[in-house]
Order: sequence, then structure tokens, then C-alpha cells
Amino acid sequence: MGMQSVAVACGALTLCLALTTATNPGFVVRITQAGLDYAQQQAIASLEKKLAQLRLPDISGDSRVLRVGKVHYELSRLRLRDFHLPYSRITPISNKGLQVSISNAFAELDGDWRVKFLFIRDHGSFDLKVENIYIKILLRLGSDTSGKPTISTPDCSAHISKVRVLFSGKLGWLYNLFHSVIESRLRKILENKVCDKVAMSVYNELQTYIRTLPVTARIDNKIGIDYSLVAPPRATTKSLDADLKGEFYSLAHRSPVPFSPLPLAFPSDHERMVYFGASSYFFSTAGIAYHKAGALVFEITEAMIPKDVEFKLNTSVFSAFIPQLEEKYPNMPMKFRLSTPNAPFLTVGEGGISFQPIVDVQAYAIFPNSSLAPLFLLSLTGNVSAVINVRSGRIVGSLDVGRIRLSLKDSAVGTFQVRMMQSLINILTSNMLLPRLNARLDEGFPLPLLDRIQLSNILVRFHQNFLLLGADVRFQPRR
Ligand SMILES: *[C@@H]1O[C@H](CO)[C@@H](O)[C@H](O)[C@H]1NC(C)=O
Ligand SMILES: *[C@@H]1O[C@H](CO)[C@@H](O)[C@H](O)[C@H]1NC(C)=O
Ligand SMILES: *[C@@H]1O[C@H](CO)[C@@H](O)[C@H](O)[C@H]1NC(C)=O
Repeated sequence: MGMQSVAVACGALTLCLALTTATNPGFVVRITQAGLDYAQQQAIASLEKKLAQLRLPDISGDSRVLRVGKVHYELSRLRLRDFHLPYSRITPISNKGLQVSISNAFAELDGDWRVKFLFIRDHGSFDLKVENIYIKILLRLGSDTSGKPTISTPDCSAHISKVRVLFSGKLGWLYNLFHSVIESRLRKILENKVCDKVAMSVYNELQTYIRTLPVTARIDNKIGIDYSLVAPPRATTKSLDADLKGEFYSLAHRSPVPFSPLPLAFPSDHERMVYFGASSYFFSTAGIAYHKAGALVFEITEAMIPKDVEFKLNTSVFSAFIPQLEEKYPNMPMKFRLSTPNAPFLTVGEGGISFQPIVDVQAYAIFPNSSLAPLFLLSLTGNVSAVINVRSGRIVGSLDVGRIRLSLKDSAVGTFQVRMMQSLINILTSNMLLPRLNARLDEGFPLPLLDRIQLSNILVRFHQNFLLLGADVRFQPRR
């Protein structure tokens, strides 16, 4: 596509946004071989139980037996006693999906037999040992229109190489003559049933489970996170990667983000079972969403000042630096309103997450009738850095502010030396604003986790343009 046609495509703004945001994910989840191995253990244990519940149909037919002639046989009440899958392996196959190979599986079953030949009828029971079962399953991952993952089994094969039957009954010798007939029919039935059961389990259990991915995580009454898949999960030779949108949005006013995520240069780490890559985009959309939702507005009043801070928020105190206050608004309580004129833009670099917010501080005097008189407007800026961790499946953080720079933007009470306000602003920031923000950040934001997954062994590492979180996973069975 030449420059000309890009410009044309972007003329339709929404289309252009759709095209650009579809390219790079804002959030990546990587499941490594260690993670796949863990998932496989859980899945195989569940599949073992499902296979042991296989129902087999009755089998009947006629067979010719030497010196006896035509024999009619019937096998009924076939019952699997157990199904063991002792060896299995899961391997990601580039651009195809996940290959599950099960080898040397074995099963035991029993049932009743019945035969008719000449004028003789007889019946009894039998035991069957099925050994050397090989099952090969290809799992293909996809995504549906809501961005939820899907999983299917485009390919399954089961091969049984050994069946041993043990008949009981007076005529046991006879049945051994034709057991090969029965064995081959049972083998065929079992081979088909195994793949049917696998397909059903994948659809009913595995797909239901992976669809617990919270593609929209509502955080509070204002903000959500969009964790929908932007493309089907990708198998590489070493991992399974899921590209998620990774975008915070205001529940009330969602609008397109005016920039798109940069590509994430994921490292080849593979010690942990799962890695999450949270891009600068992800964090910046948090700033936009909170800004848009009006959540980045704070009011500071006298009542909010902690008792141990020796400071009164009133015009008598401030008239020490602003003489005009004394004349115009003598001895009145005051109030500060903090807001961000623009959404803060967060950047992630090797040194961590940081941003330089601009905060407007509007000071008011409060009249006895509670109406407000605007006094002055300060602009604050400073370097804010974040410490990040993961707790209970959530990204938690806390902010630290460097030196704050003040400037006077507007005043209804004459000019004054903003320097004089420095220590006051430092007190307000460190005693009131930061504790509030940090209390919120300490509650954290949910990671895109499937149901009943717990993380441990957390790793937090900053890379250019994204935060890398690594963890081991534990599946909590339902109690
Ligand atoms: C303002 O603060 C000063 C100093 O703490 C105090 O003496 C005065 O009573 C306060 N005025 C009001 C209206 O709260
Ligand atoms: C409140 O009091 C101030 C000063 O006395 C006055 O200028 C203002 O109009 C009053 N506002 C209302 C809503 O009564
Ligand atoms: C913020 O940090 C940058 C570089 O780390 C520095 O150049 C800048 O002066 C700092 N700003 C403030 C207000 O401290």
C-alpha cells in the first residue's frame, strides 16, 4: 500500500483506528512449555476420568468356527473399569496449534457374552485388557467475534495395538477360537469412541474453561479493561501466545484511543509458566480512561487534613504569602480542587514506569453561604514513578513523586511568590494526594486470568515499552 492509499484509508477515521489497533496488542500473554506441561497434567487427569465413563454399545454378529459352523455371538453390558493415560506430551506446533500425544495408555473392561450355535446356547462373562493405546490430538485455538478464545480438535486419532480377552464359562475354549473377531470389532469401536470422547471433552470442558477469560474486566463503576483477543492465539515452537487488546476504557464514554500500541519485543524467558507483557499503551489508556471518567479530580478541604498535620486551610494562614487575601476574604475556610487538564501519558522503560503529569490546583475561599470564590490557579508538575507488583492475580502499584515544580497560572488576588507555597504543596501531596492514589493502586487491577488460577513465584521486570510479569500457575480445583 502506497502513502496515498494509506491516507485514503485513514480518511475514514474509524476504519484507520480499527486497522492500526488490530496490528499490535496492548497486552500479551505467553504460556511457556512449563505452563503447557502443567495445563496438560490437569487436562489429562480430567480426560482419564472422562474416558473411564465411556459407554460402549452391545456387539453382536455371526462367525464361522472350524468344526462347529456358524456361531452367533453377543457381547453386552460392556463396562470400562478404568482408563490410564500414564504418558503424555504436549507440544506447540508453529502456526498449527497444540499437539497432544498420549502413549502406552491402557484400559480394562468387562462384560457379558452369549452364544448360540447348533442347538446350544451358553453365556458367561469376560474381561478385556486393552493395551498400547496411542492417541494423537491436535488442538486448534481461535477467537470468536467477542474476542473470547475458542478451541477445537481438527484432528484426532487413536490406535490400539493390543487387546487381550479372557472369557469365563464352560465353553471358554470355543470363544478363544473366535476372539480375534470380537477383538477387532471392539478395537474399532473403542478407537472411534476415544476420539469422540476427546472431541466432546475439549468442547464441553476445555472450551468452557478457557472461555472464563475475562475479556472485559469491570474494575469499578467507572472503568473497565478490554482483554479481548485481537487475533487467534499463536503457537510458536516454544510457547502459546495470546495477543490481547489491553485497553482501559471509561464505561460511560468509550472512545477510540488516539494512538496505537508499539510492538512488544518479548524476551525468550521461559522459566516461568506464564508471562504477561503490559505495554506502555495499556498503562496510558488507564490514564485516559480515568481522566475521561472524571476520576482524576480531587478536592482537599480542611476536614480532610490529618490531625497530626499542623496546618489550617484558611485565608488567615495564606494571607502570610498573599496579602490581598486578608482584605478581600478575611478569615474564611479554603478549599483546593486538583484536576488534570490532560490525561497523563505513561511510559515504560528499562528503569520503570514513569510519567510527568500536569495538575491544576484551583484554590477557593468558602463563603458562609457555601458559595465559592476562586482565588488562584497553580500548575504542578513533577516526575512520578511507580513500583509495581502482583498480588492475588492483580497488578498492584504505588507511586512516588519527585520534586514538584509550581507555577502560577491565574490569580484573582494579585501575584505572589509561588515558592512560598512549595512546602505546603509538598505536605498536601505526600499526606493527602499520594496516600489516596496509593490506596487505590494497592487494590490493583485484574490480570486476564482464567477461573481458579492462582499465581506464585512472581517476577517483575521492565523492558523498553512494556512491563514483563512472570509467574507460575496453580489451578485450584472446585471444592
Ligand atoms: C484559621 O487558622 C488560624 C491558625 O490556625 C486559626 O487561628 C483561625 O481560627 C482559623 N480560622 C478559621 C476561620 O478556621
Ligand atoms: C454568598 O455570599 C456572597 C458574599 O456575601 C455573595 O456575594 C453571593 O452572592 C452569595 N451567594 C449566594 C448563592 O447567595
Ligand atoms: C524529571 O526527570 C527528567 C529525567 O529523568 C528530568 O530531566 C526532569 O528535569 C525531571 N523533572 C522534574 C520536574 O524533576
